[in-house]
Amino acid sequence: DLPKRVRLVEVGPRDGLQNEAKPVPVDVKVELIDRLTAAGHTTVESGSFVSPRWVPQMASTDEVMARINRKPGVSYPVLVPNKQGMNGAVEARCEEVAVFTAASEAFCRKNTNCSIDESFERFAPVIEAAQKHGMRVRGYISTVVACPYSGDVAPEAVAILADRLFRMGCYEISLGDTIGVGTPAKCVAMVDAVAQHVPREKLAAHFHDTYGQSLANILAVMGRGITVFDTAVAGLGGCPYAKGASGNVGTEDVIYMLNGLGIAHGVDLDAIAETGRFICAALGREPASKVAQALKAQ
Ligand code: HMG
Ligand code: MG
Repeated sequence: DLPKRVRLVEVGPRDGLQNEAKPVPVDVKVELIDRLTAAGHTTVESGSFVSPRWVPQMASTDEVMARINRKPGVSYPVLVPNKQGMNGAVEARCEEVAVFTAASEAFCRKNTNCSIDESFERFAPVIEAAQKHGMRVRGYISTVVACPYSGDVAPEAVAILADRLFRMGCYEISLGDTIGVGTPAKCVAMVDAVAQHVPREKLAAHFHDTYGQSLANILAVMGRGITVFDTAVAGLGGCPYAKGASGNVGTEDVIYMLNGLGIAHGVDLDAIAETGRFICAALGREPASKVAQALKAQ
């Protein structure tokens, strides 16, 4: 059975922009985020407090957070890998942060220069500070289907980490197919394994579209009780530490599918498509989203 309503988490300003070679001015990032919330998004991931030497694109997150129009009822999470990042998030008056780890040791090390266990050690002070400041914490697991360095990942490995993040206090666990190699049966097996430990309503799917499977994967896991989906306007995105991985599933594509299915989500397709054209013009590239391309051609 499919749900009547889902929640979309717009990750374009973070996942979408972290991988772009062309620097994006703060003004453009602020306008992007404000347009996304104006289009109806209630969660817009807005940046990362990570090392600017590792991810230069996210270096201006403090300025971005100071200048966006914070709408009541809208959440603007930022990624934080450690205490230092959390200090930045607290200073920027963020109300929500996201911690991130991976189901593969090799990817965890490439992405954050530490083992999976060490990533959890770094989360401890983050969670402590979040509790002190009344901030919500989302948890990400990368490489939930396969790792670009070490190959297939067992669903049970993902389940163990999801359980750990949930028990640590993450209100939601986002399951990332970082390199977009999953197919529906694999994604369903992974979600079902995780759901033995964490309630399905606490899970989100974060699918990259490298092999063009993400809409099929979303439909499949939606049929298994997943109701939160991470998407990026224009299908931007990619992880700098996952070579060859392309963008997140496009927000336009997901909205078009949901509209066709009669599933409510609260985001306006035309406004998102317009926002996609705005950010793609700034980046000097075409939208990856098929729906965005189709709407442009009309
Ligand atoms: P490290 O080098 O091991 O850290 O990096 P360190 O603690 O040894 O510190 C080294 C330097 O980094 C020091 O500066 C620190 O001050 C600085 P120096 O003295 O050399 O000038 N530093 C920081 N600066 C700013 N903010 C911080 C911070 N921490 C240390 N928070 C670290 C460890 C995690 C910081 C680094 O590896 C890093 O920043 N990695 C970037 C990870 C990242 O952003 N990846 C992309 C996001 S995850 C993703 O895209 C996947 C996802 O979308 C889901 C999916 O698709 O699967 C979420
Ligand atoms: Mg991602």
